[in-house]
Amino acid sequence: MIPLVSGLALLVLLIGLAVRREHPDVHIAFMLTAFGLDLALLGWIEVTRHPMARALAPTAPSVWLHAALSLAVVTGYLTMIGLGQRLWNGRPLSRSVHRHIGTLFLALRCVDWVTTFWV
Ligand code: HEM
Repeated sequence: MIPLVSGLALLVLLIGLAVRREHPDVHIAFMLTAFGLDLALLGWIEVTRHPMARALAPTAPSVWLHAALSLAVVTGYLTMIGLGQRLWNGRPLSRSVHRHIGTLFLALRCVDWVTTFWV
């Protein structure tokens, strides 16, 4: 269930990425939808599995790694939304930063998805 929903959010991100040039408005909508999906999934996991408590208690390194990656992904989303807003508001200097951090973010999000199979 968790890998499935997380994989769906990743798919939405990749579709949003694919349409970025022709339809920037659709790009934004898809990226924000993926963020909403990931947040909803994190909320559901926190309520049902208490990952924070598990990560703070002695636990398998894989659970700790997944928790750390998920935290980094949420920070990445917030960074990308801030950079995207600047770009949308016509600040062209933000473009290469948005692109480079976006590429890093997507790589991180892919690794995070792989770790959902371990928890
Ligand atoms: C996780 C979220 C996001 C990722 C990974 C991402 C990634 C990217 C990438 C790689 C590009 C191509 C840049 C280039 O080739 O120069 C791009 C373009 C763009 N993004 Fe994002 N983005 C995200 C979210 C957002 C958000 C939230 C906004 C707006 C609020 C936004 C606005 C834009 C705009 C306006 C463009 C330029 C489209 C164009 O005219 O070519 N992005 N994004």
